Parts: sequence; C-alpha cells; structure tokens
Amino acid sequence: MTTRLHASDIVGEADPRLYGGFVEHLGRHIYDGIHEPAHPSADEEGFRTDVIALVQELGVTTIRYPGGNFVSGYRWEDGIGPRESRPRRLDLAWRSTETNQVGLHEFSSWLEKVGGELMLAVNLGTRDVAEALDLLEYANVAADTAWTRERAANGRATPFDVRMWCLGNEMDGPWQLGHRDAEDYGKLASRAAKAMRMLDPTIELVACGSSGRDMPTFGAWEREVLRHTFDDVDFISCHAYYQERNGQAQEFLVSAVDTDLFVREVVAAADEVAMERGSDKRIMLSFDEWNVWYQFADDGTKAGDLVPDGWPVAPRLLEDQYNVMDAVVVGDLLITLLQHADRVRSASLAQLVNVIAPIMTEPGGPAWRQTTFYPFSLTSRLGRGTVRALAIDGAPRVRSARFGDVSAVNAVATTDDAGTSVFLVNRSLSDAADLSIDLHALGAASAAVVEAWIVTDTDHRAANTLADPERVAPQALVVAREGDLLRVALPPVSWAVVRVR
Ligand code: AHR
Repeated sequence: MTTRLHASDIVGEADPRLYGGFVEHLGRHIYDGIHEPAHPSADEEGFRTDVIALVQELGVTTIRYPGGNFVSGYRWEDGIGPRESRPRRLDLAWRSTETNQVGLHEFSSWLEKVGGELMLAVNLGTRDVAEALDLLEYANVAADTAWTRERAANGRATPFDVRMWCLGNEMDGPWQLGHRDAEDYGKLASRAAKAMRMLDPTIELVACGSSGRDMPTFGAWEREVLRHTFDDVDFISCHAYYQERNGQAQEFLVSAVDTDLFVREVVAAADEVAMERGSDKRIMLSFDEWNVWYQFADDGTKAGDLVPDGWPVAPRLLEDQYNVMDAVVVGDLLITLLQHADRVRSASLAQLVNVIAPIMTEPGGPAWRQTTFYPFSLTSRLGRGTVRALAIDGAPRVRSARFGDVSAVNAVATTDDAGTSVFLVNRSLSDAADLSIDLHALGAASAAVVEAWIVTDTDHRAANTLADPERVAPQALVVAREGDLLRVALPPVSWAVVRVR
C-alpha cells in the first residue's frame, strides 16, 4: 500500500536558530575536543582546525554556552584575563576540575572561526542578578566603564553583542546547583530579566522551562514561571533526551511523538498565561537541549551519577556512540521541530563535540562524524525558508506502549528561493514504506529532483567508530517520477530528504 504525502498548511518560516548547537564545559567537549593545542591540526589559539571544519559542515547556527549544569556553579570572571593567572576550580556538576583556559574571549573567537552566533547562559544557581548584570555589561556595552575597560585590556575593544540569554539552566531539576521551586525561580528570573533589559533592551531572554516532559512539576512549572516572567521574557526553554530502554527499539523509534506533545503542551501553558493576562503576546519556545542520550543504564542509574573520583580535568564523560537508529530518531526530531516552526524559534542539539555529540575526536588523532551528524547537516543545509505541514494518508502504523497507534511515516517540507525539500522518516522497525509525494500540491509541479539522500542500514546498530569512521554515511536515494508524483521506497528505520528545484 502506498502512503500519499501532499502539502497542507504553511506552518511559518524556519528560524535559522532552529539549527543551533550547545557547548558545555563538560568532559572532553572543550578541552581535548575543540581545544587541543598539542594537536597537529591546532591553530595559533590551540583550536583544532579539523574540528572547526566539521562543525562548519554540520551547519550549526547559534551555539548555547557555557552550560548546562556547569553554568549553575560558574564564575564567568574566572575565564577572562591572562591565562596563566586564571584559577583552577572544582566543577560540582560533573565532579571535574575546570582549568578556565577557555573562557568568553576564546570561545567567542572559536565561534567566529566556525561562523556561529553566541547564546549565553547566566548562572542563577549559585549567583544572582548582580553577576548577570556584570557579564551582560562586559559582553554587550560600548560605554567606557570599568568592565568594558577590562574587556578591552583583555583584547576586545568592541562588544561581543550577544543577542540571546538564558536565565539559568534547568532550575526545576533537583540535581541543579541552586535548584528552586517555580515561584522562587520565577521571581528571580523576573528580577534578573528586568535588570538585564535596563542595561540592554535589545536582548532576547529565555526563561527555564522543564528539564523534561516527565518531570513531576511539568506544566505547573511553566505556568508558574511564566506568571512571574511573562512580560520580561521572549522564550521558555524545553529540554528532551531520548534513548532506547530495555531493548524496546520500536518504542524508541517513535520518540518524536513525545517531542510533538511536549511542544503542544508548553505552547498551551504559555497561551493559558497569556489568556489570563488578556495579552496577545506569544511566548516562543527555545528547545535548547535535545538529542539521543544513553542517560540511564539498564539498572536505572543515571550517567550523571557515574562521574569519576578525584576531580579530573576533562575526563571522558557522556561519550555516547550513535547508531543508525539514533540517527533516524534525530532526523525525526528535526522534522518535528520544523512542524512547530511557528512557535519553536530556537533549538540546540545537545551537544556538539565528544559529549553526546555528532562529532568525536581522539587526542592527537582524528575527528569523525557520528551517524547523527548526517540528518542534522542535511536538514540545516536544505531545511530553510517556509515550512509546510504534509498530510500523510494511508501510512503503515506502528504500535507504541506509550502513544498507542502511531503513523510509521512522518514528514515535513520546506521551500526557499532555490527549491523545495521534503524530509521523510520511516520509524517502523520491521516494515518498508512506499511513498508518493505530490509535487503539484507543493507548488513544485515542474520541479526536477536535484539531490536525494537516505540514512539507513540493514544493521540498525551500525555506527561510526575510531576504527571504522565511515561505516555509516548518507546514500543516494532512488526517486522515481510519475507526472507530478515522486515515488520513494523507505526501508524500515530510515530517514531521507528529497530536494527539488
Ligand atoms: O547536556 C547534558 C546535561 O543535560 C546538561 O548539562 C543539563 O542541562 C542537562 O541535564
């Protein structure tokens, strides 16, 4: 049976910030990841140029920094000034030693090389409004002040001009340094936001939403936080991580259904607060941590609980190896974020290098692309412009213990000046799907296929490794043409994109 895809409503414009990344001082992300002065490819600042090239190829836009759980104990001033006098500090979140050899100046310089835009998080865990203001003044102000003189003395006369600011990180999580209840956090976030806007009214602010849809306070947290911050912020954050648990691969493959519900529920909570206030303002969503993360071992312990003894520098932490199934889930999550492009205006794949990352490195050795690299890089390159929902008729169904009867096929389309892209996923573990795509309904009747890629493998657990870094890569997808219809066969566990012009 053929699944028919045809365009339905326009969702909105895909904000380029949907293709953001996230870099945290965690494990070997910064040190021995992006920064490795002794590496043969290192530039004059110690940054690996092979990693820079891969990050550029990945196509990340905004990058959230410096955490994550790390930011809730971070003193940003430790990372400025002469490197030799920067303090070594204990990072309580990841039980590591932070050397502070990379701070705001170095990271921003790396980002300029990569071509990304900085998104900063302030510490509202162990710190307060005053320190957030200091950082904002140091980063964004042009006037002659003590902080801006110090910035200039540290080599940066002009402001960094950071647009997006996160008001803390996962403050709903009991694991977070300075964890608060929603009322406490909402009041603090409101005070911080008002003060920060007095200093720089042009910034965009993100309040912490829930660190997962499964948090016991989910929903109530969003409503309470927004009741305090509604007038002060532009975004509320969402964080979601998925993994295969207890060998239930089919359940894992439909993870994007959870993301879809998550977005709808946060939008409903935000709009409920708007309604209470009689406001037409719409709070946008910053999905600023999302990915596959093998966070829970089979015995239920969390990866974060397994941090090493002895406060090591840059230990190997959260170095997940991703397989084909993981790549298909990542591709489906991207499709889902695009389907909500009207409200999800910012998102950050968590994370970027070595730590639950699409890019891996070995000290002194190579850097390579994980399987999850490919759906991200292809969607970032081809998924721009106007987003259209696609009606999906006659799709095979899969059974989910959590979500019931679910379509095996998910899809979305984007159109920019140069052409139209259709993103497709078959999340069935066992069955192929034959698709027909109606180009006429997409306004692309006379268009020709210019490229088409599929990420799949008969071995769903195939992965790229140090020993075999190119085991999995996108393959050319065969697309047949019948008038205004494109015909595509998607094997089980596959993600694909078709580009027409
Ligand atoms: O991305 C890893 C961790 O996940 C982040 O530090 C935290 O914000 C989240 O719990």
